Amino acid sequence: MTPEFDYTAAKAALEWQIELGVDECISETPINRYDVKPQKLKLGPTSNIGPVSAMPSVIAVQESAADIAGIMAGRCADLATLRDAMAVFDHCALKKGAKNLVFADGNPSARVMIIGEAPGRDEDTQGLPFVGDAGQLLDKMFAAIGMKRTGKTVQDALYITNVMPWRPPQNRDPAPEEITMMLPFLKRHIELVNPDMIVLMGNTACQAVLGRKGITRLRGNWTSAFEVPVMPMFHPAALLRDGLKKRDAWADLLTIQARLKG
Ligand code: URA
Repeated sequence: MTPEFDYTAAKAALEWQIELGVDECISETPINRYDVKPQKLKLGPTSNIGPVSAMPSVIAVQESAADIAGIMAGRCADLATLRDAMAVFDHCALKKGAKNLVFADGNPSARVMIIGEAPGRDEDTQGLPFVGDAGQLLDKMFAAIGMKRTGKTVQDALYITNVMPWRPPQNRDPAPEEITMMLPFLKRHIELVNPDMIVLMGNTACQAVLGRKGITRLRGNWTSAFEVPVMPMFHPAALLRDGLKKRDAWADLLTIQARLKG
């Protein structure tokens, strides 16, 4: 290493690349990926999710990552265990590039569960969902109808999570296979929180939970998923890009408030 490019400069350059979304090192010798044999999927460490001996069929069958996620999620009896199970789930490549698992924030007793897309840079750094610019707008939107993530009662509280618990590089949209893989955890998350209603923020959340996109048409109309009433809304990041959408978002917030009161 030359004196001009010492340890500190090299570390800063590396951190800068990671910040830009670099998540892989390329070696000097090229690898022909077509010659690399696919590895069989294995369950990750299971210390917190019960004895492996209790799930012999899992290991024998060696199904897809989504199947493994389903089995792991199904064994979680509470949110803490679900969080642990997600933390040891090693089949989603996004985990490798993320600083933190972003599980959830707010009060799990809340009547309203908000589901966003995936962590961004601020969320990845802090390990909490919706703490960046979009998150601050989300907080203001719900404060306008008397609800907040720090709310202590079921009436004024919010519970917030995302479809994906890890930040996608360069904030790209999560890939369909990544969503499919993590969906069993999200389903279990919804079951354990057992909210009175779900608010889906944007298209990725609609795709994951409802199996369809088209937020401009979906928003403002009640639907249901997993036997829970669901209200799709524009994602707060979309509201930051296009202020004209705020009018629709306000209408949706009033619809939510009316249902909670009714
Ligand atoms: N956007 C999301 O969908 N989720 C977050 O946590 C932050 C931004």
